[in-house]
Amino acid sequence: MNPDQGPAFGVGDASFQAAGGEPGLQRLVADFYQVMDLAPEAAGVRAMYPADVSDARDRLASFLSGWLGGPKRYAEKYGGISIPQFHTRWQVGEAERDAWLFCMEQAIARQPFTPEFAEYLLRQLRVPAERIRQVQAACPMRPGRS
Ligand code: HEM
Repeated sequence: MNPDQGPAFGVGDASFQAAGGEPGLQRLVADFYQVMDLAPEAAGVRAMYPADVSDARDRLASFLSGWLGGPKRYAEKYGGISIPQFHTRWQVGEAERDAWLFCMEQAIARQPFTPEFAEYLLRQLRVPAERIRQVQAACPMRPGRS
Protein backbone atom coordinates (compact mmCIF):
# COMPACT_ATOMS: atom_id res chain seq x y z
CA MET A 1 0.00 0.00 0.00
CA ASN A 2 1.23 3.42 -0.88
CA PRO A 3 -0.05 6.01 1.63
CA ASP A 4 -0.07 8.71 -1.06
CA GLN A 5 -2.12 6.77 -3.57
CA GLY A 6 -4.36 4.64 -1.37
CA PRO A 7 -4.44 0.84 -1.42
CA ALA A 8 -3.15 -1.01 -4.47
CA PHE A 9 -5.84 -2.22 -6.87
CA GLY A 10 -6.78 -5.75 -5.95
CA VAL A 11 -6.54 -5.06 -2.19
CA GLY A 12 -9.92 -5.08 -0.44
CA ASP A 13 -12.48 -3.17 -2.45
CA ALA A 14 -9.96 -0.68 -3.95
CA SER A 15 -10.76 -1.77 -7.50
CA PHE A 16 -14.51 -1.67 -6.92
CA GLN A 17 -14.13 1.89 -5.56
CA ALA A 18 -11.85 2.92 -8.44
CA ALA A 19 -14.53 1.72 -10.86
CA GLY A 20 -17.07 4.04 -9.23
CA GLY A 21 -18.90 1.35 -7.26
CA GLU A 22 -22.08 -0.19 -8.62
CA PRO A 23 -23.20 2.88 -10.62
CA GLY A 24 -19.74 2.99 -12.21
CA LEU A 25 -19.91 -0.68 -13.16
CA GLN A 26 -23.41 -0.27 -14.55
CA ARG A 27 -22.15 2.53 -16.79
CA LEU A 28 -19.14 0.47 -17.87
CA VAL A 29 -21.29 -2.52 -18.78
CA ALA A 30 -23.91 -0.39 -20.56
CA ASP A 31 -21.12 1.14 -22.67
CA PHE A 32 -19.60 -2.31 -23.25
CA TYR A 33 -22.82 -3.62 -24.83
CA GLN A 34 -23.29 -0.39 -26.75
CA VAL A 35 -19.82 -0.74 -28.28
CA MET A 36 -20.60 -4.38 -29.03
CA ASP A 37 -23.80 -3.34 -30.81
CA LEU A 38 -22.03 -0.82 -33.00
CA ALA A 39 -18.47 -2.03 -33.64
CA PRO A 40 -18.09 -4.07 -36.84
CA GLU A 41 -15.14 -5.85 -35.14
CA ALA A 42 -17.59 -7.25 -32.59
CA ALA A 43 -20.36 -8.44 -34.90
CA GLY A 44 -19.40 -12.11 -34.52
CA VAL A 45 -19.43 -11.94 -30.74
CA ARG A 46 -22.59 -9.83 -30.65
CA ALA A 47 -24.37 -12.60 -32.53
CA MET A 48 -23.75 -14.95 -29.57
CA TYR A 49 -25.85 -12.75 -27.29
CA PRO A 50 -29.64 -12.41 -27.26
CA ALA A 51 -31.14 -9.39 -29.03
CA ASP A 52 -32.10 -7.89 -25.67
CA VAL A 53 -29.04 -7.69 -23.45
CA SER A 54 -30.69 -6.12 -20.40
CA ASP A 55 -30.41 -9.37 -18.44
CA ALA A 56 -26.82 -9.91 -19.62
CA ARG A 57 -26.03 -6.35 -18.53
CA ASP A 58 -27.22 -6.93 -15.01
CA ARG A 59 -25.44 -10.29 -14.78
CA LEU A 60 -22.10 -8.91 -15.95
CA ALA A 61 -22.28 -5.78 -13.75
CA SER A 62 -23.26 -7.97 -10.77
CA PHE A 63 -20.37 -10.32 -11.46
CA LEU A 64 -17.84 -7.51 -11.81
CA SER A 65 -18.95 -6.05 -8.47
CA GLY A 66 -17.80 -9.12 -6.53
CA TRP A 67 -14.86 -9.79 -8.84
CA LEU A 68 -13.46 -6.32 -8.09
CA GLY A 69 -13.82 -6.78 -4.34
CA GLY A 70 -17.22 -5.13 -3.90
CA PRO A 71 -20.56 -6.71 -2.88
CA LYS A 72 -21.02 -10.21 -4.27
CA ARG A 73 -24.16 -9.32 -6.19
CA TYR A 74 -23.92 -12.13 -8.73
CA ALA A 75 -23.80 -14.80 -6.00
CA GLU A 76 -26.66 -13.08 -4.14
CA LYS A 77 -28.93 -12.82 -7.18
CA TYR A 78 -27.94 -15.71 -9.41
CA GLY A 79 -25.85 -18.18 -7.37
CA GLY A 80 -22.44 -19.61 -8.17
CA ILE A 81 -20.71 -19.44 -11.54
CA SER A 82 -17.48 -20.73 -13.04
CA ILE A 83 -16.71 -18.25 -15.81
CA PRO A 84 -14.66 -20.65 -18.01
CA GLN A 85 -17.15 -23.52 -17.62
CA PHE A 86 -20.13 -21.25 -18.24
CA HIS A 87 -18.67 -20.10 -21.55
CA THR A 88 -17.92 -23.56 -22.96
CA ARG A 89 -21.33 -23.47 -24.67
CA TRP A 90 -19.97 -20.89 -27.13
CA GLN A 91 -17.08 -21.19 -29.54
CA VAL A 92 -14.52 -18.79 -28.09
CA GLY A 93 -11.24 -18.69 -29.97
CA GLU A 94 -8.68 -15.94 -30.22
CA ALA A 95 -10.88 -13.80 -32.50
CA GLU A 96 -13.86 -13.90 -30.10
CA ARG A 97 -11.64 -13.31 -27.06
CA ASP A 98 -10.03 -10.32 -28.72
CA ALA A 99 -13.35 -8.90 -29.94
CA TRP A 100 -14.77 -9.14 -26.41
CA LEU A 101 -11.68 -7.45 -24.97
CA PHE A 102 -11.83 -4.80 -27.71
CA CYS A 103 -15.35 -3.86 -26.55
CA MET A 104 -14.14 -3.70 -22.97
CA GLU A 105 -11.17 -1.56 -23.94
CA GLN A 106 -13.44 0.89 -25.76
CA ALA A 107 -15.94 0.93 -22.90
CA ILE A 108 -13.18 1.46 -20.31
CA ALA A 109 -11.85 4.37 -22.38
CA ARG A 110 -15.24 6.06 -22.04
CA GLN A 111 -15.18 5.96 -18.23
CA PRO A 112 -13.72 8.64 -15.95
CA PHE A 113 -11.17 6.12 -14.64
CA THR A 114 -7.58 7.05 -13.87
CA PRO A 115 -5.20 5.81 -16.57
CA GLU A 116 -3.66 3.47 -13.98
CA PHE A 117 -6.97 1.84 -13.15
CA ALA A 118 -8.04 1.67 -16.79
CA GLU A 119 -4.83 -0.18 -17.64
CA TYR A 120 -5.09 -2.44 -14.59
CA LEU A 121 -8.71 -3.38 -15.28
CA LEU A 122 -8.09 -4.32 -18.89
CA ARG A 123 -5.03 -6.36 -17.89
CA GLN A 124 -7.06 -8.19 -15.24
CA LEU A 125 -9.92 -8.91 -17.67
CA ARG A 126 -7.49 -10.54 -20.09
CA VAL A 127 -6.96 -13.32 -17.55
CA PRO A 128 -10.49 -14.81 -17.48
CA ALA A 129 -10.94 -14.02 -21.19
CA GLU A 130 -7.88 -16.10 -22.04
CA ARG A 131 -8.95 -18.79 -19.56
CA ILE A 132 -12.30 -19.04 -21.35
CA ARG A 133 -10.48 -19.60 -24.64
CA GLN A 134 -8.18 -22.24 -23.13
CA VAL A 135 -10.97 -24.20 -21.47
CA GLN A 136 -13.04 -23.98 -24.64
CA ALA A 137 -10.07 -25.29 -26.67
CA ALA A 138 -9.65 -28.21 -24.25
CA CYS A 139 -13.38 -28.90 -24.09
CA PRO A 140 -15.03 -27.92 -27.40
CA MET A 141 -18.75 -27.25 -27.64
CA ARG A 142 -20.64 -30.10 -26.12
CA PRO A 143 -23.18 -31.83 -28.32
CA GLY A 144 -26.72 -30.77 -27.60
CA ARG A 145 -25.79 -27.29 -26.46
CA SER A 146 -26.06 -24.32 -28.73
C1 HEM B 1 -13.69 -14.18 -23.97
C2 HEM B 1 -14.73 -13.64 -24.58
C3 HEM B 1 -16.14 -13.73 -24.08
C4 HEM B 1 -17.23 -14.05 -24.81
C5 HEM B 1 -17.25 -14.35 -26.30
C6 HEM B 1 -18.38 -14.03 -23.92
C7 HEM B 1 -19.68 -14.32 -24.29
C8 HEM B 1 -20.76 -14.37 -23.45
C9 HEM B 1 -22.11 -14.67 -23.85
C10 HEM B 1 -22.54 -15.00 -25.27
C11 HEM B 1 -22.89 -14.61 -22.74
C12 HEM B 1 -24.41 -14.89 -22.66
C13 HEM B 1 -25.25 -13.68 -22.55
C14 HEM B 1 -26.72 -14.04 -22.44
O1 HEM B 1 -27.16 -15.05 -22.99
O2 HEM B 1 -27.44 -13.29 -21.78
C15 HEM B 1 -22.03 -14.26 -21.63
C16 HEM B 1 -22.45 -14.11 -20.35
C17 HEM B 1 -21.64 -13.77 -19.32
N1 HEM B 1 -20.29 -13.51 -19.35
FE1 HEM B 1 -19.12 -13.65 -20.99
N2 HEM B 1 -17.96 -13.71 -22.66
C18 HEM B 1 -16.60 -13.51 -22.70
C19 HEM B 1 -15.80 -13.14 -21.64
C20 HEM B 1 -16.22 -12.94 -20.35
C21 HEM B 1 -15.36 -12.55 -19.25
C22 HEM B 1 -13.85 -12.32 -19.36
C23 HEM B 1 -16.14 -12.47 -18.15
C24 HEM B 1 -15.79 -12.12 -16.74
C25 HEM B 1 -14.88 -11.24 -16.41
C26 HEM B 1 -17.51 -12.80 -18.56
C27 HEM B 1 -18.60 -12.82 -17.72
C28 HEM B 1 -19.88 -13.17 -18.10
C29 HEM B 1 -21.00 -13.21 -17.18
C30 HEM B 1 -20.98 -12.93 -15.69
C31 HEM B 1 -22.10 -13.59 -17.94
C32 HEM B 1 -23.55 -13.82 -17.45
C33 HEM B 1 -23.68 -15.22 -16.92
C34 HEM B 1 -25.13 -15.62 -16.66
O3 HEM B 1 -25.89 -15.82 -17.62
O4 HEM B 1 -25.50 -15.72 -15.50
N3 HEM B 1 -17.51 -13.08 -19.89
N4 HEM B 1 -20.74 -14.13 -22.08
